[in-house]
This record gives sequence, structure tokens and C-alpha cells, in this order.
Amino acid sequence: MDLLKVDTDKCLRCGICVDCCPSCILNLGENGPECHFDRGCMSCGQCVAICPVGALDNKYAPLAEQRPVTMPVLKPETAYEFLRMRRSVRNFKPVPPTDEDLMRLLDVARYAPTAGNSQGLYYVVIRDAEKIKAIAEAVANWMEDEVAAGTENKRYFMTVLRAYRERGQDIIARHAPCLVFALARRLNITGVSNAEQSWAYAELFAPTIGLGTTIAGFIQSCGIAGYRPLLDLVGVPAKQNIVGTLMVGYPKYKYKRMPERQHLKIEFR
Ligand SMILES: Cc1cc2nc3c(=O)[nH]c(=O)nc-3n(C[C@H](O)[C@H](O)[C@H](O)COP(=O)(O)O)c2cc1C
Repeated sequence: MDLLKVDTDKCLRCGICVDCCPSCILNLGENGPECHFDRGCMSCGQCVAICPVGALDNKYAPLAEQRPVTMPVLKPETAYEFLRMRRSVRNFKPVPPTDEDLMRLLDVARYAPTAGNSQGLYYVVIRDAEKIKAIAEAVANWMEDEVAAGTENKRYFMTVLRAYRERGQDIIARHAPCLVFALARRLNITGVSNAEQSWAYAELFAPTIGLGTTIAGFIQSCGIAGYRPLLDLVGVPAKQNIVGTLMVGYPKYKYKRMPERQHLKIEFR
């Protein structure tokens, strides 16, 4: 099959699919949309999803796999409150999240946007308390190396290390019962951005299934830096990198209020 299959009886020749294509590889021919560079298709499925009459199929994003949009757009007040209610959760019940809850959390995360629809994130779930402790320890060791080398994060890491080493507070992994690592192929230079988007989805979805999350910034920075002891603990395959880390668990406490932020800084020019 060619990339596109057009039901010419249904096609309105409206050209919306052509307008939507992120790669600009479609043009409107006599019988509807045509593709002049099949290999440029990023399989995003937009051309199929936007067609008002379901006249278009795409080999890489089949019409048969697309569910109709049925939900109305949320009321802005609902969406605003939902987004503002999200919190970073750093205190967890001492029980790790179930396979089922983690699958639901990460299943929605894969619908987050990725550069060029590259997708390709692999998630590694770690729930072994001893291993999580060893990971925090490895990150502390990495920070000590960074401090000794006088890197730009030196002062910040010294503060973290004071809490972790001297006061015995787990500022690195927060005693999380579960860490999720996002891995991407080394060649995927947008892996870190993709993982950030995927965490945004996961963090917003988590409370709807009783989970809480926090981005494990220290751990993921150590992973992104390619610190070998951490890669070994996580078991990162040779051709992959760590591109993000998320703490996940069932929240121990419930937030009663929503903190304020800096005021909106905006200029219209
Ligand atoms: C890139 C990034 C890294 C973060 N790393 C950590 C971290 O290592 N530990 C932590 O407790 N929180 C971490 N956070 C969470 C922030 O501290 C948190 O989002 C911020 O304080 C605002 O609080 P809120 O998420 O509850 O609104 C991180 C957030 C981001 C976006």
C-alpha cells in the first residue's frame, strides 16, 4: 500500500489534511491528498485524525486504530483547577505501586508530545528498596565528584550533600517506594525533552488513580550525565541513555491548599 489511501467518494478535497501535515509532504491533487515524499511521514496520524469525513487512511497511522474524539472540551475553570491542583509528592506510604497502576500511569505518558513524533521512550521501573537506596548513594557519590571537580553546580550540590550525608535526610530519593527511569536511544537527541513531556502527563494523571509523583531531578541529572555506577544499577543497555527519572508512590498526606506562584510576567510587543 502507498502511504495514503483516499476514499475518493468520501473525500471533500478540502485540503485540511494537507494543512495539518507537520512535514509538509502532502499536496492536494485532483482526487484528494497525495504524498510526494513517503519517507518524510512521521506517523503522527494528524492527517487521518483531522479528516471531517474519514476519507483518509495512512499506512503508518491506520484509520482503524484511531478512536473518535467523544469528550467535550473541559470548562476552563475545571481545567485550570485540575492543573493547579497538581503537586510534587515527596512522602509516600511504604508500599510500592502495583504493576497495574504503573501500567496505567505510563500508558498515558506515552501520549505526550515527542519531537518529530520520535516517541521511543523505554521505562524501567525499580521497586527494590535496597536498590533505590544504592541509587541515592551513587548519586551522592557523583555529586561529591562534581564538588571536587569544582563544577558550576558545586554550591548547590554541597547543600544537598549536607542534608543527605550529615543530617541523614533522603533529599535525593525521598524514600520513594518506586523510581521510574525513562531511557532513550543515544541517537535520540530530544530524549530529555521527550521525557519531560511524558512526566508532565504522568504527574497530572497520577492523582486520578491514587498515585503521587515527583521528578527526581538529582537522580535524572546524574543519569543524563552518564554516570556509570548509576547506569549499571539501573541496567541501562549499551545503546541507551537515561533521559529522566520520576518518583512514584501512594501519597501519605493530602494537600489542602494550592500555593501561589510568581506573578505572570508577560509583554505584548
Ligand atoms: C526538572 C525538575 C526537577 C525536579 N527535581 C526534584 C527533585 O530532585 N526533588 C524534589 O523533591 N523535587 C523536584 N522537583 C519538583 C519541584 O521542586 C517542584 O515542582 C516545585 O517545587 C513546585 O512544587 P509543585 O510541583 O508541588 O508545584 C523537580 C521539578 C522539575 C521540573
